[in-house]
Amino acid sequence: MSRILLLVAVSIVMSSQKEVVIKNEKCRTCNFLVSTFDEGLKKTARHHFAGGDTAWEEKNLGKYKTSETRLIEVLEGVCKKSSLPNIDKFTGISELEFKCASQLEKHEETIEEYYYNQQQNNMSIWLCVEELKLCCPGGHFGKNCEECPGLKEGADACFGKGACHGDGSRDGSGKCKCEAGYTGNLCRHCDNEYFEESKTEKGVVCKQCHEGCLGICSSEGSKGCSKCKNGWAMIEGEGCQDVNECSNQSACTKDHEVCVNTIGSYQCDCEEGYKKDDEGKCQLDVEAHPDRPFMPIAQQLKIISFSSLIIIITFVVWHGSPVLYVLTGIAIVALILVDLYVNPDTIPDEAKRFLGLY
Ligand SMILES: *[C@@H]1O[C@H](CO)[C@@H](O)[C@H](O)[C@H]1NC(C)=O
Ligand SMILES: *[C@@H]1O[C@H](CO)[C@@H](O)[C@H](O)[C@H]1NC(C)=O
Repeated sequence: MSRILLLVAVSIVMSSQKEVVIKNEKCRTCNFLVSTFDEGLKKTARHHFAGGDTAWEEKNLGKYKTSETRLIEVLEGVCKKSSLPNIDKFTGISELEFKCASQLEKHEETIEEYYYNQQQNNMSIWLCVEELKLCCPGGHFGKNCEECPGLKEGADACFGKGACHGDGSRDGSGKCKCEAGYTGNLCRHCDNEYFEESKTEKGVVCKQCHEGCLGICSSEGSKGCSKCKNGWAMIEGEGCQDVNECSNQSACTKDHEVCVNTIGSYQCDCEEGYKKDDEGKCQLDVEAHPDRPFMPIAQQLKIISFSSLIIIITFVVWHGSPVLYVLTGIAIVALILVDLYVNPDTIPDEAKRFLGLY
């Protein structure tokens, strides 16, 4: 029982939050009628006087402009989708042609009045707004075509930064739905992460804060931030600056990892010749380096030097010369020092090539 009540409560809350979609079908159907009618007027004018421009047609159409012959020709294409090059504006209305034809039939006299006596007017406004009262003029909504917020103050609907619910239709609530970056009932304020660049009676202009800012900011750039996002630090006189996480030794510590700093963060990539396995560990990438040495260079060096040492010692013992004993002692000490203090990574490439390590 209580679960059902909860469900009902939840669905009520959800439906009250959902924006009511205005179908506005009658108004749009009327505009479809007007568009096809207009297209017919243009087409017949072209047929009658091929090649003339609008002003030229106006002067030369003469009696044909309001003749019955022309009206019949125009009506042939009215309410037909095929009359328009593009019907995107009218998608979503089922049986559009049929509904349009019904309007045409119902309001035949008014449409004829337009044709014979009102062609100087904008047909969409004259017919759909003023005569048939199916639409409201731009910036107006609802049964009585009330003004959208902002018009009273001499500004555009929703102060130019939002959509007025029901704008242009005989429906809707007139509430503003603000564009990204704007907020408030009238879209006259800047949203979080935006700052006010300018403000007049016509509305406000908001711009996005710097990417390092957290929440509000006072101006453009990193210096405008009040607080910084994670991965950014407030530096005196500089504002929010990207933190180079890689300068922290404990950023990437697994074997063969290298730290790569990114804006606002960092990532641990594998060093060259390695790639991540399924567990995210960096493993030698065999495919990428088929000609990589079979053994690390340091090890190869050791093997070469120690086998040379053994050969020398054998030679010295065989000869039994005291001078050679001294020289061999020096060589052994030198070898141990090299082994302890020389980093194989710092050996020049030419030297490695000379030793046959590649
Ligand atoms: C008629 O007015 C409507 C709405 O203001 C406008 O969109 C349309 O372009 C106008 N038509 C002509 C032919 O000027
Ligand atoms: C370095 O990183 C570690 C672990 O992510 C963190 O606990 C530590 O505070 C960092 N040190 C500095 C100086 O940022």
